[in-house]
Amino acid sequence: MMKNILEAPFVTEMRKTTANMYRIGWDERNGGNISYLLDEVEVAEYLDVSQVIRTMPIGFCEASLAGKIFIVTGSGKYFKNVDDDPENNLGIIRIAQDGETAELLWGFKDGGKFTSELPAHLMSHAARLSVDPENRVVMHCHPTHTLAMNYVHELDDKKFTHTLWEMCTECIAIFPEGIGVLPWMLCGTNSIGEATAAKMKEFRTVIWGMHGVYGAGKTMDETFGLLETVEKAAQIYMLTAHLPRINTIKDEEMVELAEYFGVKYKKDFLNL
Ligand code: 13P
Ligand code: ZN
Repeated sequence: MMKNILEAPFVTEMRKTTANMYRIGWDERNGGNISYLLDEVEVAEYLDVSQVIRTMPIGFCEASLAGKIFIVTGSGKYFKNVDDDPENNLGIIRIAQDGETAELLWGFKDGGKFTSELPAHLMSHAARLSVDPENRVVMHCHPTHTLAMNYVHELDDKKFTHTLWEMCTECIAIFPEGIGVLPWMLCGTNSIGEATAAKMKEFRTVIWGMHGVYGAGKTMDETFGLLETVEKAAQIYMLTAHLPRINTIKDEEMVELAEYFGVKYKKDFLNL
């Protein structure tokens, strides 16, 4: 007897996370997308994985992910609607042995397709897995203050990271490796996917200039928490950037905190 897929923990997590991200204003309309690498044994408790509903070309080859199963948000689908209608708004796909075809195992019931940002997602998964075999989640969204900050702050890895580290005491402990920043690029393409993945080898957070942000992590909570911290820091920046700065967290203090938490932080992103 197969278990009910609508009660699978990974479907519940996708429903709850998309609803939460919509609620806090990070994902207007169809903005944002999530991909979540699933455990094949767990999926088989809910689905007959030999039953492929249909196949879709992914438009590039990611051989290292052949056989891997992901639950992903659909292209053009609204995060607002996922919770009420997961079977139309989400899909479970397996990357075929050729590395360039997605096999639909569940979802996208109205004929829909995986997110247009699949290149950035799958290439980022491959990049993160090469440095962290436990990585499972890639999340993209349009958080308001992070995006606002893109218009008034230099788009540079070191400078952007340093400013965010200064905005909340614990930032350097939450993203000690820093943040990668890309200039404005055309979204949905293999090129932006390759650029994102290149940054993902070094960072779990990548800003897409004047578009949004990508986060990666081992769990949904860790990934969401990472982006939430970045967004909070950007909010503090946007609330204070136009005011005279009287106090700041000094680089020496960031070192003190990073050492206290025992994290490996990017030393050359500080000005010591
Ligand atoms: P999708 O609806 O195709 O997921 O695209 C949303 C988005 O945020 C594009 O960057
Ligand atoms: Zn986007």
